[in-house]
Amino acid sequence: MKIIGINGSPRGDQSRTRRLIQAVLDGATEAGAETELIDVSAYDLKYCTGCGVCYAQGECLLADDFEEIYQKILDADGIVLGSPVYIMSVTAQLKTLIDRMADAIHCQMLNGVYSVAVTTTGGGGHDEVIAYMQRVLNMLGSITIGGVGVALGRDPDALNGATLEAAALGVTLVDSIRTSRHYPEQEEILAKNREYFCALVSANKDVWVHEYEYWKELDLLLH
Ligand SMILES: Cc1cc2nc3c(=O)[nH]c(=O)nc-3n(C[C@H](O)[C@H](O)[C@H](O)COP(=O)(O)O)c2cc1C
Repeated sequence: MKIIGINGSPRGDQSRTRRLIQAVLDGATEAGAETELIDVSAYDLKYCTGCGVCYAQGECLLADDFEEIYQKILDADGIVLGSPVYIMSVTAQLKTLIDRMADAIHCQMLNGVYSVAVTTTGGGGHDEVIAYMQRVLNMLGSITIGGVGVALGRDPDALNGATLEAAALGVTLVDSIRTSRHYPEQEEILAKNREYFCALVSANKDVWVHEYEYWKELDLLLH
């Protein structure tokens, strides 16, 4: 079982979000998973230009490291998505990666993958950013088993308490993957997402040829 941690902070080893992601991964390792943590900022990642070639052909024309990161994501059974709060949102680094995954969203590529969202912040915005990352994960087809967000401005020691919570989430993540645990509320949301993207791709079948073929192969086209 493979679990990948993705850190949106540009601060490398200094990143407090990285520490929290690592705590989730440590819990997962103890529960028997193989883990890897990547910093998005360590990769050459260009902005999505909205050209639509990925919808039509299933590949991106930009020459950079996206495919390498994307392959790691596709190879994983579990994902720990992390970012510090930057002006009430995720960092530009993580958003750049998310934008590059619009084709993955249309094709629901993380169907069957379990995930966790992690954030740190100075004073606030953590609930909103956890909710945003969990929504993105749901849009990709993934079930999120929880999230941990912590405000560190007034109490830097809060990170220590949060790492315990994070490690416990790592154990739950592994258990959820191992037992294909059900999350009925999210399963309803994911079913609606699948229906929505299936209909969207179908409506654009003449242009989004690759995505239409993908859904057709899955035999899940509703229209
Ligand atoms: C550009 C920038 C924007 C930030 N925006 C917010 C914010 O909107 N609210 C907040 O409480 N903290 C904000 N912070 C503080 C970070 O969220 C906080 O220091 C976080 O723990 C940094 O995580 P890292 O160590 O993983 O990079 C911001 C920091 C930077 C550099």
